[in-house]
Amino acid sequence: MFVHDIVITRVSVVTGANKGLGLETSRKLASNGITVIVTARNEKNGTDAVEKLKASGLSDVVFHPLDVKDPASIDSLINNAGQNGTELNMELVASVLDEAGMLKGVTISTYEMAVDCLNTNYFGTKKVTEALLPLLQLSKSARIVNVTSYYGLLIVKTELSDTDNLSEEKIEEIVQWFLKDFKEDTLKANGWPLTISAYKVSKAAINAYTKLMAKKHPNILINCVHPGYVQTDITYGTGPLTPEEGARAPVMVALLPDNGPSGRYFHEMQEAAYYLMHICDLKILELSYLIESLKQFHV
Ligand SMILES: NC(=O)c1ccc[n+]([C@@H]2O[C@H](COP(=O)([O-])OP(=O)(O)OC[C@H]3O[C@@H](n4cnc5c(N)ncnc54)[C@H](OP(=O)(O)O)[C@@H]3O)[C@@H](O)[C@H]2O)c1
Repeated sequence: MFVHDIVITRVSVVTGANKGLGLETSRKLASNGITVIVTARNEKNGTDAVEKLKASGLSDVVFHPLDVKDPASIDSLINNAGQNGTELNMELVASVLDEAGMLKGVTISTYEMAVDCLNTNYFGTKKVTEALLPLLQLSKSARIVNVTSYYGLLIVKTELSDTDNLSEEKIEEIVQWFLKDFKEDTLKANGWPLTISAYKVSKAAINAYTKLMAKKHPNILINCVHPGYVQTDITYGTGPLTPEEGARAPVMVALLPDNGPSGRYFHEMQEAAYYLMHICDLKILELSYLIESLKQFHV
């Protein structure tokens, strides 16, 4: 856009952009004429990603090292970096793969992995957001897109859904309570999710944080988006969507018009109410994803 001979370029920062959804989100944003700061915690992986983007004809892409747990270090910020807080139990993998190659889901998770997951997905997102807020506030059309998961819709603790009484301290208190229970092996007794639990809590915390920040910063469109179930490393390559397909939703939310919504949850390409789920609703949603995945394999 030209205003009085000044070229106005939109700039986006994408975290965890070296692969998966982050890389494809960067590609789509750059294809839309946006300068993209591709960030990654590993310098070599980040510069390789930029080379890939440049090789496909995109020039306005630059690398910047960024570990969201330690942001040393704009118009939009795509908080994409994430970990699932589990690891595959390789001994069991063979026995849980069905003929179609579908993973029936056996993962192991240690306390250290849970801490790392929360530090990346929740505290990392928060730190990067806080660090970039002063720059975002200079933009006339600032956006923050928090890449979340439908797992974050699970009611992990009702306090997280109580928007009127929510505060950053309250969210942190709940996250620390979860980690304490994880360490003391009291997740079940205190009603926390038992599988992929750190990931679910981290995304529920991100959803709550999104609502809180949107309320605090009415001049910025701050939303969270579930990209779909996408074949990336975090899902061990399972899921019906390719990373290119999965990146459509975060990009759409990053490019919302100035009068667009804020403080909302997008389920893939649809703006959805912050409907909250009990564990049985989550199971139904997971079943629908499983059916979608099976269709992919023509089963
Ligand atoms: N795939 C899905 O079905 C799905 C569904 C819902 C939500 N999501 C969310 O989508 C986002 C992207 O995940 P993905 O599916 O693209 O998985 P992915 O391919 O595993 O990518 C995760 C990215 O996060 C980066 N990362 C992890 N810890 C980091 C840290 N401390 N600092 C900076 N970057 C870090 C990884 O970098 P390294 O390469 O250095 O590890 C990688 O670039 C995540 O937030 C995930 O929770 C994914």
